Amino acid sequence: MKYSKFMKIDKIIVKTKETTYPILVGNGSISLLKKQVNKLCPNTKKIAVIFDKNVPNIFKTKIKKLLKKYKIFIKDYSPSERLKNFSNVNILIEYLIKNKFNRNDLVIAVGGGIIGDFSGFVASIFKRGINFINVPTTLLAQVDSAIGGKTGVNSKNGKNLIGSFYQPKLVISDISFLNSLPKREFICGFGEILKYSLIKDQKFFNFIKKNSKQILKGNNLSILKYLVLRSSRNKVHFVIADEKESNKRMILNFGHTFAHGIESSNNFSKKINHGEAVLIGMLLATKLSFYNNICSLKTLEEIEKIYVSNKLPSKLNKYLKKKQINNISKLMVNDKKNDDEKISLILLKRIGKTTTPGKIKMSVDKVGNFLKKIN
Ligand SMILES: NC(=O)c1ccc[n+]([C@@H]2O[C@H](COP(=O)([O-])OP(=O)(O)OC[C@H]3O[C@@H](n4cnc5c(N)ncnc54)[C@H](O)[C@@H]3O)[C@@H](O)[C@H]2O)c1
Repeated sequence: MKYSKFMKIDKIIVKTKETTYPILVGNGSISLLKKQVNKLCPNTKKIAVIFDKNVPNIFKTKIKKLLKKYKIFIKDYSPSERLKNFSNVNILIEYLIKNKFNRNDLVIAVGGGIIGDFSGFVASIFKRGINFINVPTTLLAQVDSAIGGKTGVNSKNGKNLIGSFYQPKLVISDISFLNSLPKREFICGFGEILKYSLIKDQKFFNFIKKNSKQILKGNNLSILKYLVLRSSRNKVHFVIADEKESNKRMILNFGHTFAHGIESSNNFSKKINHGEAVLIGMLLATKLSFYNNICSLKTLEEIEKIYVSNKLPSKLNKYLKKKQINNISKLMVNDKKNDDEKISLILLKRIGKTTTPGKIKMSVDKVGNFLKKIN
């Protein structure tokens, strides 16, 4: 795939068993919102717009202007993993009920993965499902969380344990929203982009390897558009094959079982966020693959080189105390992809190829000892 023309708005179609929806990727693709709402949700009268507090006002004003013919209700949340909580879901649902929203009306999320997961979950259970549109505004949300219909909130016992599969009517990934993103958030998005290349796309890995510094600077909109398009297509490939994550889609969890253990052990504090935990988790999964003769030393070293040269998060002890590190494997067993007392893991065979879902299962002790050994 070549760089798409920068100004062109590209459309990716997601076709699941129950529904079909477009992802509109481009610089300024938000301008299509009004026309799309008209077309996809023709009976909508009221719209709840759930904003991420850190999305710049210029975009918020633009979105409100585009929707001015509707009765709009604005919510502005400060995102944190603690927002992804069942009591906050309840509060927002009661707000929609009080304002007499019905199923023909619409919820639009404008923010990162936290706002998207939270609002999507509310939309999925409000009156058994109200129209939902996702406007992801972080790199991570554009390349990953806004696509595929997984919504949810956290439990005190683990990450994303309460949720649903609920496809949006539309996703608008406007690259210009990324202009205001802090450097830390580019690193987080980079983690998920690297994931696609490691699990499926060796050519993409070569591109990332060559351009990692430029990608992490986050100022080249053509490169960003290319990354969003290619990652979105990779994700759609897995979602179409296995919407409800019974098999193939589990490959997308490469590094995430570790990441969810890390985030839970850290009690979801901002000290380490999701994308950073994923980066550490993928390196741990690769090391575990090497120690179990599943991938070669060359593969591990090639991946490690990207971490070292870009100073990417890699060491658990930089973020967690020894006690918290020792707790990770116990929390991993609570991950929703596990069906018994063992930890089910996706490991790496080589760049572009993982182990088969369900094939690798390890005891809590084995994973715990591995974590002790390498830290
Ligand atoms: N549903 C899925 O399939 C899926 C997949 C991957 C991750 N996730 C979830 O996504 C969440 C992480 O998402 P995230 O990395 O986007 O984090 P996030 O939602 O916390 O956003 C990161 C930060 O960027 C700020 N921000 C958002 N847009 C901005 C903009 N345009 N300019 C400036 N600042 C902006 C936010 O306020 C926040 O401080 C986690 O909860 C994770 O579990 C879900």
